[in-house]
Amino acid sequence: MKLIEVENYEAMSKKAGEAVIEQVKQKPNSVLGLATGGTPTGMYRYLVQDYKKNQTSYHQVHSVNLDEYIGLAADSPQSYSRYMNENLFDHINIQKEQTHLPSAGASSDKTEGEKYENLIASLGGIDLQVLGIGENGHIGFNEPGTAFSSETGVVELTASTREANARYFNSIEDVPTHAISMGIATIMKSRQILLLVSGVKKANVLYKLLTGEINEQLPASILKKHKNVTLIADRDALSVVKEKEGSVSR
Ligand code: PGA
Repeated sequence: MKLIEVENYEAMSKKAGEAVIEQVKQKPNSVLGLATGGTPTGMYRYLVQDYKKNQTSYHQVHSVNLDEYIGLAADSPQSYSRYMNENLFDHINIQKEQTHLPSAGASSDKTEGEKYENLIASLGGIDLQVLGIGENGHIGFNEPGTAFSSETGVVELTASTREANARYFNSIEDVPTHAISMGIATIMKSRQILLLVSGVKKANVLYKLLTGEINEQLPASILKKHKNVTLIADRDALSVVKEKEGSVSR
């Protein structure tokens, strides 16, 4: 894992945005794997500003998102479909029909997951996947204990994830219990991965990631086996690593 240390959230967002822009310039018909949540909003802001200023074109880009809650209407304020429109798609020239999220209406059978796997394969695979990390080490909504061989499918959210995301809902009871998530094996097939980590809330998990074993209890740890991962982490996220210094393996 290549580590880029940055000062703060703004700097992380800029670095990540620059990497996405570079990818799209190098390959105008790139397949971008996109993430939601608090972490990438600054990166999306950077992309929108750049689009306004430099007209970087997304006309040929396809996007596939990591995950979606089960059971929310697409226009529900908390749906990731709406998040993507509001934070990015409505502000750049990407063709909406070339943007994809796993289906919020998926039942627990395998059909929707398989459809999503086939879609990604038909696009030629993901060129650049943007990832955040959960406080419990999840990537996408693949919670601790998920097999590294997992493919896209319906997953149950842990109590800690529902608590972490309750800030976006009226109450924790309103947070869906299930989601559909790109699998860990699916994420690992991406040609390049950008892992964004910001803030003190992520400092413990980042320490575990950088110093611990590769273990299914820490889903993100599998990324250490990927050949092309860039971790962009800010000072706060690295605070526990710095405190304990010691041997950090990547
Ligand atoms: P966050 O979520 O960006 O809102 O912290 C990250 C994640 O849960 O993967």
